Amino acid sequence: MSERTPMIEMCNVSKHFGSVIALSDISVQVHSGEVMCLLGDNGAGKSTLIKTLSGVHRPTHGEIRLNGEPARFKSPAYALDAGIATVFQDLAMIPLMSITRNFFMGREPTVGWGPLKRIDWKLADRIAKQEMGKIGIDVRDPSQPVGTLSGGERQCVAIARAVYFGAKVLILDEPTSALGVKQASVVLRYIAKARADGLAVIFITHNVHHAYPVADAFTLLKRGGSLGTFRKEDITREEVLNMMAGGAELESLDAELAEFQRSDTERADADTSGVRPPLAAGQ
Ligand SMILES: Nc1ncnc2c1ncn2[C@@H]1O[C@H](COP(=O)(O)OP(=O)(O)OP(=O)(O)O)[C@@H](O)[C@H]1O
Ligand SMILES: [Mg+2]
Repeated sequence: MSERTPMIEMCNVSKHFGSVIALSDISVQVHSGEVMCLLGDNGAGKSTLIKTLSGVHRPTHGEIRLNGEPARFKSPAYALDAGIATVFQDLAMIPLMSITRNFFMGREPTVGWGPLKRIDWKLADRIAKQEMGKIGIDVRDPSQPVGTLSGGERQCVAIARAVYFGAKVLILDEPTSALGVKQASVVLRYIAKARADGLAVIFITHNVHHAYPVADAFTLLKRGGSLGTFRKEDITREEVLNMMAGGAELESLDAELAEFQRSDTERADADTSGVRPPLAAGQ
């Protein structure tokens, strides 16, 4: 057991939206150099959890600690300044803006002073190209629109940006859900790299094949509550899959499908049991 201070921690956090209890008494910890996968059905509270960590929502009860210190963020910008970078699936990029612009998003390097201060595009382009190169993506011209990159590459721009600006915590809400196998593997490889660089990573996915290879631990949410955190060495891929799909639900689905099959067979039997259409009788 490690007694290190977790990089990010939720202590008995609840989040209510009026009468809706989206999170109830959640405690999770993620250490630096570790990937925690957040699992759970639609509506389980995954996005609410990460929005609470990244300053979009304020917890109704409980506390967030960053590197052991209580943290209260007024907005995502404050969370980012404190080192918590969040990559949202849809809001990650502005397609018509250049790769460089998307990479810096208002934090471009400048030259000159006072009224002569302007963005140093040459340097900005060079950094964007170089940082993308570090993760194996060769951007020939970083001034081209980000919309010309593939989905996986776009996710990587968002992640590269977080790492470049010194994030300590990287939060990814379903970054691979809309991607093909090859693109998803680019993103997964980069998650592994962020972990190796010492970031604490929280990763939401519905895909066990994406979750299992990169995760060190799995936390399962159900209707706003936590069913626990499981270390990878204590749980098999099949058990994770069962937790994700909900073992009980799959069993009842099996029964339902068997029922469909039976009624199909009965119908087919009725068709062949003498009540043949007149056409067949005349032959
Ligand atoms: N701003 C809000 N106002 C009211 N209710 C909300 C709000 N945000 C989330 N909820 C509710 O909280 C619950 C958890 O939602 P959340 O988006 O966190 O689920 P999720 O696990 O991310 O689901 P999915 O896998 O579909 O993305 C849902 O019942 C949702 O309707
Ligand atoms: Mg969600």
